[in-house]
Amino acid sequence: MKKLFALALALVMVLGAMSALADGYKVAFSQIGQESDWRTANTDSIKAAIEGHEGWELIYDDAQQKQENQIKALRNFITQGVDVILFTGVVSTGWEEVLKEVNDEQIPLLLIDRLPDCIDQIDYVAAFGGDFVEEGRRQVAWAGEYLKAQGRGDEEVNVVIMEGTTGASAQVGRTEGNLAAIKDYPNMKVVGQQSGNFTRAEGQALMESWLKSIDKIDVLIAQNDDMALGAIDAIKGAGKVPGKDIIIVGCDSVKAAFDAIVAGEMNATIECTPLYGPFVVETIEKLIAGETMSKTVIHPEEGVYDVDGGIDLGTVVSVKAADVIDQRQY
Ligand code: AHR
Repeated sequence: MKKLFALALALVMVLGAMSALADGYKVAFSQIGQESDWRTANTDSIKAAIEGHEGWELIYDDAQQKQENQIKALRNFITQGVDVILFTGVVSTGWEEVLKEVNDEQIPLLLIDRLPDCIDQIDYVAAFGGDFVEEGRRQVAWAGEYLKAQGRGDEEVNVVIMEGTTGASAQVGRTEGNLAAIKDYPNMKVVGQQSGNFTRAEGQALMESWLKSIDKIDVLIAQNDDMALGAIDAIKGAGKVPGKDIIIVGCDSVKAAFDAIVAGEMNATIECTPLYGPFVVETIEKLIAGETMSKTVIHPEEGVYDVDGGIDLGTVVSVKAADVIDQRQY
């Protein structure tokens, strides 16, 4: 009987401590900026999940694409004594010092999206991000396999690679994947490779300049959909037909890219989900409950979407965008 009472008392104490901890729990989030539709969806997903959770308070900082702003925000979070920090870095290098400061203060760190290259030197609770190298590989493989399916597998085609923000892990990984996959398609020749900074405006400006300086462009690999959509405007402005005169492959799978694919102005998009809210909530709940978690970097399931579907990329087969457009969440 005595044992039972002691057990019940211990349980009451644990539950009490847990609810005290969960009450007014401060979740700080250092976001890169708002450069793309993907980023907006990512911010909205995390904000809604944290703000919708009872007893949790979100402390949000938008760094406007500047690393120095993110470093300042992280130090502010430490000063404010937040309970957990969500972090994605605008670039992959230069974070070791400030993230070690976070570790020294024993504030749990949750890495999301673009992971820092010092990941093996710091402590973190869990990490969740896209497999950028695989996304880049899929972009080029989609174009190569599509050309083959069109009977153009032996035709020499000129490819331009529109990269994301220089030094961002999404740019570094996708470029690695793009260039590795190009080797599998000897008919594809890279004739332009430059950053469009992951924005629609810079994607448009870069495509305008390429269309003036490069004689023949057959394929555009844009490392995100926003740049692809900007490029579509540039292609139309130059009197060419996007999706036909120039094959366009984007990345992210945002709603606007689906609309462009269904309209026949864009050919394909590789998925990279921004919907991190549920993962963040699940991880923080486990953290509060004192559960041990695997530190393994988790990559979300990703699809490939295009006009007709059926392009086999080895690890995934493309799906017809029009068939799933109504189910898209971002
Ligand atoms: O880090 C993810 C990338 O960042 C997305 O592909 C892009 O749209 C965003 O800016």
